[in-house]
Amino acid sequence: MSIRKVVKYGTPSLREPSKEVHKVSQKVKSIVEDLLDTMYKENGVGLAAPQIGENLRIFVIDVSTGDEPLNPMVFINPKIIKKSGAVISHEGCLSFPEAFTDVKRYANVMVKALDRNGRSFVLEAKDGTLLARCIQHEFDHLNGVLFIDHVINRFDAEAQLSEHNLPPLELDKILEEPELEPEIEKLLEEKTKQEEKQK
Ligand code: NI
Repeated sequence: MSIRKVVKYGTPSLREPSKEVHKVSQKVKSIVEDLLDTMYKENGVGLAAPQIGENLRIFVIDVSTGDEPLNPMVFINPKIIKKSGAVISHEGCLSFPEAFTDVKRYANVMVKALDRNGRSFVLEAKDGTLLARCIQHEFDHLNGVLFIDHVINRFDAEAQLSEHNLPPLELDKILEEPELEPEIEKLLEEKTKQEEKQK
């Protein structure tokens, strides 16, 4: 068990797809422990193996808050088997220290994975909760996809990146998301109306 260095945006390995885990071996278990230790040390809600320099399909999440007991969740070889709805998610990432921007996410996801003992489980996260959004964020890391690839406002994202001395957006990586786009437009319109009302 040890705290590992978190790889920062700009490092090529963050863009590489990660490999399937063939066996939940001692080595895999120790990577899981390192991920959890590092996530807690950095006050993150999620961390994926490529972020500690291990290009394997593993991520961990803990969305417990305040006085709640810790609730570490381990996902090995995860697959998203269902997704629906849309939500605007204000996100950051331990590989992008202090930079935050709004991104497009599905509101509901169902994920299938192995736990740290190699047992298969299915988990459903709904209504755009932190857990639902976090699963998508961490899952993306295993495919070399980063949260800024789902950006809503490129100007805001560029400003955040430059303010925190991070490399600029990689425009060729920004995803076309036709299933999310109309829903996100609606949500943005509602948000604008609400903001105008408050004035
Ligand atoms: Ni991240």
